[in-house]
Amino acid sequence: MKQKKHTKKDKKPAYKKTSQKEENKTMANEIKQNGKGFSEAEIAVHWKEEELIYPPSTFVAQANMADPKVYERFSEKKFPECFKEYADMLTWDRYWHTTLDTSNPPFWKWFVGGKLNASYNCVDRHLQQYKNKAALIWVPEPEEESDAVITYQELFVRINEFAALLRDFAGLKTGDRVTFHMPMVPELPVSMLASARLGIIHSEVYGGFSGQACGDRIQDSQSTVLVTIDGYYRSGTLIDHKANADIAVKRAEELGQKIDKVLVWRRHKGQYASKSPMVKGRDFFVDDLLKEFKGARVEPISMPAEAPLFIMYTSGTTGKPKGAQHSTGGYLSYVAGTSKYIQDIHPEAVYLCMADIGWITGHSYIVYGPLALAATSVMYEGVPTFPDAGRPWRIAERLNVNIFHTAPTSIRMLRKAGPNEPAKYNYHFKHMTTVGEPIEPDVWRWYYYEVGKKEAAIVDTWWQTENGGFLCSTIPAIKPMKPGSAGPGMPGIYPVIYDENGKEIERGSGRAGNICIRNPWPGIFQTIWGDPDRFVKTYYEKYCKNKNSKDWRDWPYFAGDGAMEAEDGYFRILGRIDDVINVAGHRLGTKELESACLTVPEVAEAAVVPVVDEVKGRVPVVYIALKPGYENEGEKIAQKIVATIESVIGKIARPKNIYIVPDMPKTRSGKIMRRVLSAISNRFNVGDVTTLANADVVEKIRVLVQGKDKVIVEKAPEDLEHFGEEK
Ligand code: WT7
Repeated sequence: MKQKKHTKKDKKPAYKKTSQKEENKTMANEIKQNGKGFSEAEIAVHWKEEELIYPPSTFVAQANMADPKVYERFSEKKFPECFKEYADMLTWDRYWHTTLDTSNPPFWKWFVGGKLNASYNCVDRHLQQYKNKAALIWVPEPEEESDAVITYQELFVRINEFAALLRDFAGLKTGDRVTFHMPMVPELPVSMLASARLGIIHSEVYGGFSGQACGDRIQDSQSTVLVTIDGYYRSGTLIDHKANADIAVKRAEELGQKIDKVLVWRRHKGQYASKSPMVKGRDFFVDDLLKEFKGARVEPISMPAEAPLFIMYTSGTTGKPKGAQHSTGGYLSYVAGTSKYIQDIHPEAVYLCMADIGWITGHSYIVYGPLALAATSVMYEGVPTFPDAGRPWRIAERLNVNIFHTAPTSIRMLRKAGPNEPAKYNYHFKHMTTVGEPIEPDVWRWYYYEVGKKEAAIVDTWWQTENGGFLCSTIPAIKPMKPGSAGPGMPGIYPVIYDENGKEIERGSGRAGNICIRNPWPGIFQTIWGDPDRFVKTYYEKYCKNKNSKDWRDWPYFAGDGAMEAEDGYFRILGRIDDVINVAGHRLGTKELESACLTVPEVAEAAVVPVVDEVKGRVPVVYIALKPGYENEGEKIAQKIVATIESVIGKIARPKNIYIVPDMPKTRSGKIMRRVLSAISNRFNVGDVTTLANADVVEKIRVLVQGKDKVIVEKAPEDLEHFGEEK
């Protein structure tokens, strides 16, 4: 298997520049090919080196950053002082004395000595010039409901009132943690910025996560207050969300963390949308309470740059989610800088990011980045394809959105449901972003030609929850776009690809390896909340050159992604190299899913592997061995497993298939061979299985999954090729 990989990758991909005309031809071909039966997923993984496309001159003429010297300003020689350029975009109460403190590696400290407040920086400081400008425009999912336009002044008022409530009613103070379990409603950024105003550390749990998942995170962060909402719209249904709060509180309590107060916003003021009763003395309607805080003003607390601003949980290789702890000064500087240079956000921008604030993308690039730059950030409550695939384009047309940001999974979904929709609407984007997973060149082209109408510069931004902001991307007015490649390291970010032994893989070699970042940057998370050892172990141990060194050069950051660097320094990200599945741009740990399955009493063993999905990129498939004496009669057990996964994690983790197998393929030492299960699920060669303890079960499983006829996909997707192999 390894050998095959080499011959394949040694062939250096052809590298060519294409004119616009040729480019159109290529696109036509791709579409034709696609019509001939290539699945998007197949194209997905085996694309060749693509041509370069230059940004429209209209874009370049107005760009925030069009000076190629920026790369010199942020060169290694200028590190770390170069990041002053980002920090200076903020208003500091006290300037810092040390840009980067490396005295306790890898716990880097940025802008030490500096003091600032994030809420002040995102709101108060804009009032003088922009108080009547829309800060947030919230678009509800039901199309007949009108938008909520929240000016900077109005946002200021709401933040102050809610901050007063958090302090005086909920009893929260600087350094406490508060958990939010909120969907895409303006009350979420209000809650975040109100916490930030007081230096309360917020931990927003994605609204789609189950109550139980929320409870786990409450416990981990030791929050005593949960902020939630009664309901919200998703695909036309008003979902009962408050019910999750009851489960979350119960779960947290079982784990030893008591929630004193549940603050319940209401989707429609004064009307309660949930069936779940309000618990007396614990649950309170925020709209009722706010009456007492009308006109309240709360001084923003001047926080040390290093004070944590928020925690954002993400999946890792073990079952327990990791709380990525982000700083105030470094984080805010980094998102302000990257929003300005990469997203090209001007104060006049009407910026629509169709991500969820429950993920890091929304924190950095719906809330903190755009608001730090005084832009108008448009929030959409619901599903992009609701009620039809024209929805985002109608929003863009009506609000005159000029910057659009989303993930490949929504792009694929929108293309599938309405390939010709964008042309029907009169909107004009100058800039578009893709983030979260590799984007197939074919999908990229639809984005560029159909959605962007060839008028927009596209950035493909690679980064992670842990990183605060973009790590690889083109600077849109300076570097050409290359479909399917994220681009070079950002200014001040020096990526490197190492092989398993820590040897650098040269650019242009055509070989893939583990992408790492050589240096610290201001947006990097500070630690895993409550688990500094896991932080060091997961991200720094593998390639640390000298554990006693206080030189950052000895501590490359290990991202956990496979990648290739082309001759021109552009990085193509291949996907996770660990046991994490990237579903629709979001991380799920296979171990989290497996542990959920194991809570079903009939289940003896569970193994979860990723399969290619045309829309979502990768989705989990579950293999189950039942305890003796049980059978999956009428799919009953399979249904129970699905229900369990949904209640332990949430609907996003719903598996594509559940296979009840007679036995798991195992090594002689009893280890489940996930590699074999992944190969079967994805229809590629299972390789050598003769050394297994129960080799005969492999064919049985294969027939169960694929049917009798053997169809083998010629090339395994790069990220799946080695899934589950012993490392
Ligand atoms: C993982 C991080 C931070 C954005 C939202 C996801 C994958 C992210 C790209 C991209 C290819 C990408 C990586 C990464 N990923 N962006 N532009 N091209 N892959 O954040 O949930 O922390 O997931 O998403 O595999 O490790 P996340």
